[in-house]
Amino acid sequence: MTTTKGYVDPEYLQVVGEFLNQLKQRTYARMQIQTGHKVLDVGCGPGIDTMALSQLVGVTGEVYGVDYDEAMITEAEQRTQKAGISTWVKHKHSDATSLPFETGYFDSCRSERLFQHLLNPSIALKEMARVTKENGWVVVMDTDWGSGGIDTIEIDIERRLARFMSDNLYHNGYAGRQLYRLFKKQGLMNVSFDVLPLVVTNYTFARQIWSLDILECQAVEKKVVTEGEVKKIQMAFEQADADGVFFGYGCLTLVAGQKVG
Ligand SMILES: C[S@@+](CC[C@H](N)C(=O)[O-])C[C@H]1O[C@@H](n2cnc3c(N)ncnc32)[C@H](O)[C@@H]1O
Repeated sequence: MTTTKGYVDPEYLQVVGEFLNQLKQRTYARMQIQTGHKVLDVGCGPGIDTMALSQLVGVTGEVYGVDYDEAMITEAEQRTQKAGISTWVKHKHSDATSLPFETGYFDSCRSERLFQHLLNPSIALKEMARVTKENGWVVVMDTDWGSGGIDTIEIDIERRLARFMSDNLYHNGYAGRQLYRLFKKQGLMNVSFDVLPLVVTNYTFARQIWSLDILECQAVEKKVVTEGEVKKIQMAFEQADADGVFFGYGCLTLVAGQKVG
């Protein structure tokens, strides 16, 4: 198991995956998948997307998922075995910056919420482009932790926590806004982008998907906020929740580009 910055477990990814299901479908559509295609998911986690992709390529296709966390790969392989799709869906332990596939092997390739963890996202994108065929699509959806916020009267505390989250909880908390530039610089063509808002109106769910316990703990440790300020903003959020007006949001960016020439 990996316990690096921003580590999340399979159960967390399952909950978020269900919440993001419609956005995930959009990434699959951008891959322009046909029956029999070979497709790759980089930073696949417990295999939520490789399982979905298996239905799109069918038994004559091939789906690979890679992740640098061995526990994720074991979980993904178990799920695949259980679903009876392991003849055409496989998972490998590998770093995104060095993919264990030959050049041009895949018809299309995706990654989701991986780039927020990467110190060198351009190297991962270069690798994704390398293993994709000519005319194939490279698709990345990632978070911009600097894009959102939570409505509260405690704006100063909220802003300090939001800034701390973007700057410190992930290696690359502004990944989403960088994707268009990375795709263009990589020489991918026909680049498209979508900015996709996620709104949460349930405080308990917000605490879970935005890992607010971890955020508050680390922010107090680093003296970004005091324990008293954390209590104050929690009370404001609880009041908003009790009044039925809790509102938080954040954006993901979905960028697709074609490998041409
Ligand atoms: C937020 S999770 C997203 C998982 C999956 N894409 C999903 O949508 O459910 C990020 C995943 O990226 C993996 N990861 C982080 N850095 C990586 C790297 N350098 N190479 C490969 N995988 C990495 C983590 O282990 C984790 O499974």
